[in-house]
Amino acid sequence: MEKKELLYEGKAKKLYETDDPDLLWVEYKDDATAFNGEKQEVLAGKGRLNNVLSSMLFATLDEAGIPSHFERKLSDTEQLVRKTDIIPLEVVVRNVVAGSLHRRTGTAEGIELKEPVVEFYYKDDELGDPLINEDHIRMLEAAQPEQLSGMRTQALAVNEALKHHFGQHGLLLVDFKLEFGTTADGNLLLADEISPDTCRLWDEKTREKFDKDVFRYGLGSLQEGYTKILKRLGGA
Ligand code: C5P
Repeated sequence: MEKKELLYEGKAKKLYETDDPDLLWVEYKDDATAFNGEKQEVLAGKGRLNNVLSSMLFATLDEAGIPSHFERKLSDTEQLVRKTDIIPLEVVVRNVVAGSLHRRTGTAEGIELKEPVVEFYYKDDELGDPLINEDHIRMLEAAQPEQLSGMRTQALAVNEALKHHFGQHGLLLVDFKLEFGTTADGNLLLADEISPDTCRLWDEKTREKFDKDVFRYGLGSLQEGYTKILKRLGGA
């Protein structure tokens, strides 16, 4: 497999074309950003931690019968993925109140939800990725109705699989964000990444935070938090 020209550079990853038109080469960067890019730092080792964790989690989902764009890990900081057309929606699933759900509803952080809450955010940096509803999605033609129901069903399946997986290692999956794309043959496929940049993960008992909130709110070392997650999941 050959790495070709840079296709896109995001806040945390670079995407390159390959000699296979169906595959992309992903490079995880050490850059950490929060609050829509207002807070920015380079944290050595972050790219490796997210690449390793994301590769492990996509493999876990595959074993649970949930396909994704992930093909294989190429190196410490790189992976090969199937090319998709990204749907401009972020799908957030929540099990425990935190972050913007706490701010929006006034519900106390840490309250466990009786049923998972699924939310859709419109991917638009200038607008600050606003929360939108299904009528807005139809209005914006951001996704077809069957894609929307597919995203909800798959996001809930991911939640069940990951909640169970993290739970086996003493970690509480508070919430997470997914992105989906469509393949050349028109199928919906889970894409982007699943890492402590995109999930909230707390110690099940002490509720210590190990995820990107450590960086967002200056609670300690991001790399230490992510390393704790990796070690709990049996990685190094
Ligand atoms: O900030 P909020 O509470 O809405 O975030 C919910 C979840 O989605 C968190 O796990 C957060 O890390 C993730 N998220 C993300 N990318 C965004 C917004 C939120 O990964 N642009």
